[in-house]
Amino acid sequence: MSLATSEGEELWKKGWELLERGVVDKKHDFNLAVLCSINSTLHPRSRTLVLRKALKAEGELWCYTDKRSDKATSIDAGRNIFSWTFWSPRHKIQFSGSGKTRWLGTEESQQLFAALPRHSRKAYATLSAPGSSVAGGNRGLPADWEERDLSATDYAADNFGVLITHLTEVEILFLSREGHQRIRASRQPFRTWELEWLVP
Ligand SMILES: Cc1cc2nc3c(=O)[nH]c(=O)nc-3n(C[C@H](O)[C@H](O)[C@H](O)COP(=O)(O)O)c2cc1C
Repeated sequence: MSLATSEGEELWKKGWELLERGVVDKKHDFNLAVLCSINSTLHPRSRTLVLRKALKAEGELWCYTDKRSDKATSIDAGRNIFSWTFWSPRHKIQFSGSGKTRWLGTEESQQLFAALPRHSRKAYATLSAPGSSVAGGNRGLPADWEERDLSATDYAADNFGVLITHLTEVEILFLSREGHQRIRASRQPFRTWELEWLVP
């Protein structure tokens, strides 16, 4: 990694530390991200979701989603560059990064689904695709959802997928009374990150 200064390296490390904390701590600011993709009418579309894994060495961010959702179908249509944004008011750090996004292999993703409790499976269990029209306030789940045991929710595995973004462009902004700081990290896929300072 070529680094602008050790202070730049510190900010880079801090950004990844916050992501790693966000994965394991539901109350952490970086547990939730805003994920942006391009929809079928080529409009940007953002939504909040939970960060499930952050791998610094690989430069990857993972999330779980319904394979029928808008973000999922955009990948399958080749609009697979996604952007993630995190903000921590406590640490005064914004992390935003983008790159090509792909699906985790079916076997691994099915193992993750199998470990999900019933209430977590609900997000993948609607009878129609997320975002389809539905009559007045209907939650989209089978009518007997509340009575079902875990095995009766296994069908939702078909809708469950894990998205992995391989980041190639990252910016980290640190807000400070002494003056804000901003770095950009970029790389070719699977190559070394190059860091530079930007005017905040
Ligand atoms: C706090 C919060 C957490 C969410 N977590 C997820 C998540 O982990 N995965 C997911 O696909 N959607 C999650 N959602 C729902 C998404 O924001 C979005 O509504 C849904 O995925 C459909 O998105 P799409 O139709 O734009 O693809 C979450 C929403 C909120 C408000």
